[in-house]
Order: sequence, then structure tokens, then C-alpha cells
Amino acid sequence: MTTEIKPFKIRDIEINPPLILSPMAGVTDVSFRDERPFAVQIFGGQPERMRMAAEMAEEIGADILDVNCGCPAPKVVKHGGGSGLLKDYERLQTILTEIKKAITIPLTIKIRAGFYDHDINAVETAKLAEGCGVEHIALHGRTKEQGYRGIANWDLVKQIKETVSVPVSGSGDVTTIERAFARFRETSCDGVLIGRGAMANPWIFRQIEDVMHGRKVFEPMLADKRAILHEYFDMLREDMPETPAINRMKQLAGQFTRGLQGGALFRTSLYHSHSVEEILNRIEEYFEAIENGRPYFGEAGTPVEEASELDSCEAAGAV
Ligand SMILES: Cc1cc2nc3c(=O)[nH]c(=O)nc-3n(C[C@H](O)[C@H](O)[C@H](O)COP(=O)(O)O)c2cc1C
Repeated sequence: MTTEIKPFKIRDIEINPPLILSPMAGVTDVSFRDERPFAVQIFGGQPERMRMAAEMAEEIGADILDVNCGCPAPKVVKHGGGSGLLKDYERLQTILTEIKKAITIPLTIKIRAGFYDHDINAVETAKLAEGCGVEHIALHGRTKEQGYRGIANWDLVKQIKETVSVPVSGSGDVTTIERAFARFRETSCDGVLIGRGAMANPWIFRQIEDVMHGRKVFEPMLADKRAILHEYFDMLREDMPETPAINRMKQLAGQFTRGLQGGALFRTSLYHSHSVEEILNRIEEYFEAIENGRPYFGEAGTPVEEASELDSCEAAGAV
């Protein structure tokens, strides 16, 4: 395993370590992430509204403005936004040029491999973006048509890296320390984005950094997992009304307890909870049992049908 992973810069903003929490609408909100630098990602298909949104993001103190060119949600694509921009270069160019004129913070872009499976155009999109003054390109190597199926094509990250001179990062399927190192090594990319892997294991960034510095890899104890669930729930409750906070909590806890003993039963009991107090009690009961090596039997509810994966940026409201 190599440790040849270096920080990089988006203009004068150092990305160190070169690991980025991937944007996930409905998940990576302010509660999930309160570290700087932070990028605000906007999406939409109307140049004028996009320019206004970009100006607002700069005004509220964003360090970086990112344009979403990957969202596959029909309600976003319908208006020409998200991955729709990958098949409408004129619109994309206008949006990027207008935004570039309006803001002073760095403009970045997150793209997919292409819109259609038969038209992989990520390298062309990257070139166009660079020409419009974009200062970092992140690629999720799946097409819009592909959605979240199959595996991400990291060879395209390599090709973009060889083509443009701005920094390039890759996204898709990095769920382990080993995979992160392999993707850096294979593609010479500047950064790696981690999305779903960070939901299941929020310590993954720290663990990768441990390896980079030759330190013993941090292994969370059950107590750490319990603590982080509480912490996240507290932050959610500060941020939003009770019902959405409870729903987000269920979503995160679902991802987070995969593979833990009794995790499926715990998720079922959370899905059946309807108040903050109930959620807190369930967390306590569950961890109390497994931390003491006791089996967890959950509550008597019927098991819920679990979504195997959270789905894309459906949770987002169109700009
Ligand atoms: C629930 C969810 C929401 C997402 N929302 C966004 C989004 O708003 N903007 C974006 O650029 N990508 C979004 N993505 C895509 C991720 O940023 C990432 O590129 C993709 O999930 C692949 O990386 P991963 O395998 O590390 O999750 C979303 C993905 C998920 C699972």
C-alpha cells in the first residue's frame, strides 16, 4: 500500500487530506458536516437562477461553489439541470460562464460519465468546464442512464486527469481504506470523494489518514458508534423540526448499523419509533445489549422492507 497521497489545492484552498465527503442531498447537510472548507453545491438548468443561487452561496460564506452535473432525478433533469447538462453543452457553457462572472470563490463541477450509456463524454465535459474557468472537476464514473447500478468507471478519472490541468477527483464505490489507496494509485487523481462509504463508516477519512501517516488505524468501539448516533441526532434536532429529524435519524442509523449484531432488528425498531424519546430509548436498549454481549431481540414489530441503498439526489428540491 502506497502512502504517496498528497494534499492538493483548489486555487488557494488546501484540501488536506485529499479526501472529500461526497455531496449527498438529504444526508450531508450542515449537521453531518461542520468542517471547513465547505462547498455549496447548486443545481438547476436556468442560467439566471443558477447565477443568483451562486451569488447567495458566496454571500453566506461558502468557500467553494460546486455545480451539480450528475443528479439523475427526473424532476431535476426535466428542467435541464443535473445530469441533463451533460447532453446540453450550450446550456452548460452559459451556466458556467454566467456563474464564473458573478462569484469570486472558486467554481467547481461534479459530473457523471455521460448521460447515455452509448455516449460517454466525461472527458469532453471536463475540457469544456476547464475552458469556462472551472477550478476542480469531480467525476462519478457512472452514466445518468446507469443510475447507481454497476460499478463506477475510474479509468475515466485517469483520462480526465491526463487531459486537463486543473485538479481532478474521483467518486464511486470507495468503501474501504484499500480501495481509496488503489484509486489514487491507479488514476493519479488529486482527490477521492467518499459518499455511501462514509455513511456506513464516518471514521473512514480518519482511518485513511492514519494509514497515510503510518499510524495505527483507529477502530471505533461500540461506545463510539453509540456516541456518534447521539451526537448526530442532537445536531439534527437543533437544525430542523422533530419529524424530519427523526426521519433523517432513521436513515442514517440504517446505513450505520449494517453488519452489527442485531442491526436489522434495531433498524426495525427505529423505523417503528415516532418520537425523539422513543428513538433515544431504542438506541440505549440496543447498545446496552450488544455492548454487554447480550443478544438484541428488538421489539415485536414486523420487520420493515429495507431499501438496499439510498437513492441518489431524489431528496433534493430543484433550484
Ligand atoms: C443519497 C444520495 C444522495 C446524493 N446526492 C447527490 C447530490 O446532491 N449531488 C451530487 O453531486 N451527488 C449526489 N450523490 C452522488 C454521490 O455524491 C456520489 O457521487 C455517488 O454516491 C457515488 O459515490 P459513493 O459510492 O462513494 O457513494 C448522491 C448519492 C446518494 C447515495
